Amino acid sequence: RTHKIAVIPGDGIGTEVLAAGLEALEALASHTGSFKLVTEHFPWSSDYYLKHGHYIPEGGLAKLKTFDAIFFGAVGSQQVPDHVSLWGLRLPICQGFDQYANVRPARVLPGVKSPLVNGKEIDWVVIRENSEGEYAGMGGRSHRGLPIEVGTEVAVFTRTGVERIHRFAFELARKRPRKHLTLVTKSNAQRFGMVLWDEVFFEVAKDYPDVKTDRELVDAMTTRMVLKPASIDVMVATNLHADILSDLAAALSGSLGIAPTANLNPERTFPSMFEPIHGSAFDITGKGIANPTATFWTAAMMLEHLGEESAAKTLMAAIEKATASGVHTPDLGGKARTADVTQAVCDAIRAT
Ligand code: NAI
Ligand code: MG
Repeated sequence: RTHKIAVIPGDGIGTEVLAAGLEALEALASHTGSFKLVTEHFPWSSDYYLKHGHYIPEGGLAKLKTFDAIFFGAVGSQQVPDHVSLWGLRLPICQGFDQYANVRPARVLPGVKSPLVNGKEIDWVVIRENSEGEYAGMGGRSHRGLPIEVGTEVAVFTRTGVERIHRFAFELARKRPRKHLTLVTKSNAQRFGMVLWDEVFFEVAKDYPDVKTDRELVDAMTTRMVLKPASIDVMVATNLHADILSDLAAALSGSLGIAPTANLNPERTFPSMFEPIHGSAFDITGKGIANPTATFWTAAMMLEHLGEESAAKTLMAAIEKATASGVHTPDLGGKARTADVTQAVCDAIRAT
């Protein structure tokens, strides 16, 4: 089958890791012969913004809508404030295409060292509400520069938005061997939106008697992730909370350079977007040492979404063979370069 992929490398190492990801996908397509990718590159980045005054040109989203999936690198530049770049490129796509379910698996791959002694116990999926909450864009500033200046950042939670992410989380948890879902909120200190989250969670839970549940406050969840990793299977949390917890999950599984994510529109009305969770990494941009593993794993998630389960499994096995063989970039304590890891994964694909 042929799939149409929109490629948005963006900024910094985003361009480096996406090039690596496409190389692995090409190797996989030609070796397995089971699928074909037709790609189109979109140059939307911070350089593009500085030249044109916008990240996404007029009609850009309508163009993207015609694709089966979006393969995204990262956005963020030292020349543009982060809130401008994030709201200029990534959020309009996530929100415009109602990609409300952000899925972030975390696992310690073979040959990778977790900072935890019991890191091997990590086998989690963090589910992040991706359309509202703290990143709804509500709020404002008034009285700029005056002593009475106010800035508000309003978290917006709708029953529809909360219910659909919980339902998504239960569906996903149900498909995993342990069938366990942890609700993460902060409903002791935050009395409205977070209490709504809790209530709707336990209403939805009634439809999933086969899924075991428990709940944790977000601060306590950070310690549980570090101290009792085996007690966690799937967790569901708000946009902000899961943003933070998933970076922690990535670090505990060895590196931010490994962690993948899918921004899903589960109803498939719109294309979903796949990206490594890391950003554009100014400190290593252009050095050729970015870890492409997160992007490979992201590519595997994209294939799975496109119905190419067997190719996704082959890619995942190749990634694990490469990490196990010790071809590691500096973030994992090694000396390998992006190109070496890419080569190792492509070789492993061809040896399948
Ligand atoms: P970052 O993820 O870019 O980097 C954090 C640290 O992790 C850095 O030391 C970096 O070198 C390292 N790192 C990240 N990915 C790596 C990889 N693949 N291989 C090896 N090391 C890796 O986060 P930071 O520094 O907070 O943000 C930099 C820029 O990226 C900012 O402009 C920020 O807004 C943006 N950003 C964009 C995201 C996105 O596009 N989804 C996500 C996070 C940040
Ligand atoms: Mg983040």
